[in-house]
Amino acid sequence: MTVPVGIHDITLATARYALDLGELARRFDVDVNKFYTGIGQRVMSVPAEDEDIVTMGASAAARLLERDGGPMPRTLLFATETGIDQSKSAGVYVHGLLGMPAECRVLELKQACYSAAGALQLALGLVARSPDERVLVIASDIARYDLASSGEATQGAAAVAFLVQRDPALIEIEPASGLHTLDVQDFWRPNSRNTALVDGKYSVKAYIDSLKGAFDDYRAHGGASIDEIDRFCYHQPFTKMAVKAHTSLLQHTGRPADRQAVADALAPTFTYNAEVGNSYTASIFIGLLALLDGDVDLTGERIGFFSYGSGAVSEFFSGRVMPGYEAHLHRDEHASALLARESIDYERYLTLHPGTEVSSRGDYTTAAGAGRFRFTGVREHSREYLDVERAPESSTAAEQ
Ligand code: CAA
Repeated sequence: MTVPVGIHDITLATARYALDLGELARRFDVDVNKFYTGIGQRVMSVPAEDEDIVTMGASAAARLLERDGGPMPRTLLFATETGIDQSKSAGVYVHGLLGMPAECRVLELKQACYSAAGALQLALGLVARSPDERVLVIASDIARYDLASSGEATQGAAAVAFLVQRDPALIEIEPASGLHTLDVQDFWRPNSRNTALVDGKYSVKAYIDSLKGAFDDYRAHGGASIDEIDRFCYHQPFTKMAVKAHTSLLQHTGRPADRQAVADALAPTFTYNAEVGNSYTASIFIGLLALLDGDVDLTGERIGFFSYGSGAVSEFFSGRVMPGYEAHLHRDEHASALLARESIDYERYLTLHPGTEVSSRGDYTTAAGAGRFRFTGVREHSREYLDVERAPESSTAAEQ
């Protein structure tokens, strides 16, 4: 009998501030229902000056490792679109902040919003080769578009951390997988920019074309038929994208496709993403968390996952929910990460948006925020971080 391998534990972290999309609607004199209903988003998380992909990733991973009784992971895969260094992996900063053992391989993976699904597949391969290994995957991103652009309403920020191992408590990932890669310019971010460039309508089409290609490849490689998949969990740049995508997949496979029925079926995967906004690589796994945390018993159900990373690489894969999974959920933790955010207005949000071009600021110190992990600033081109709980009292006080 094959030993199941998959996701054993998972959690999320997000940023300090929350901007209701009603604020954007007010600023641009747009009907707020364009955002609430038209794209299916209500709020976006906005990072404080001392937050970035490392601090969010460390927050999620710290909680996971602190409650975990198993051996330390020997691999840490950090997936992100929002890289902070051209050379050093953001995962190495997290490894240091969490005091992980030196006997660990750490890598950063990049392919827009796809890389965390790629990291999951690499992790499954490592565990298949060495069944006692455990892999920590962190997906952490800040979605940023230009001010006053059509993408502005689809910004957001969040991280997930999950552990991949044999005999997982939550989800067994099945072997079949469907792949699709196409060299397109639908969304990209040159090194000189903080904000992504995007051809919005073309990106929606590229997403849907990729879904059809990846699903066909999944079927050709022994994947379940669409009727054998109980739930679907999509990458959600905005939640309405998943509705458009699944409606197209049903049509593609010759099934009836009523848009409202599709929206209702996918809704349990939307609850967190509608509140944090696009979190690029983390978004599909935040959709999974919302589904698991919902009030339906999913035991034994098959979930079909579609991950899409502009540019474009995508994958369709599936997993089964393990018996007893409910005993391993942490619903309160996820709800409080969202509730703990401080609401801000458009004017405050403007002061936190970094603008389009990356500027060379020299040395600087960031204002102290409220999180455990802080990006404290740059000294001689090095980013510096602090774990407030482990810092000597004097250094924390000095930061404030
Ligand atoms: N009440 C209700 N609905 C309304 C409304 C109102 N008052 N006003 C408009 N709407 C509806 C529109 O009918 C439309 O619905 P449909 O798409 O179902 O027709 C929806 O609201 C959006 O309206 P527009 O198409 O006019 O919106 P837009 O052009 O201003 O922006 C967008 C939409 C192009 C997706 C833009 O948000 C964008 O560029 N986002 C970034 C790119 C993106 O997220 N692409 C997704 C695929 S790429 C990917 O997945 C990778 C990634 O993470 C980036």
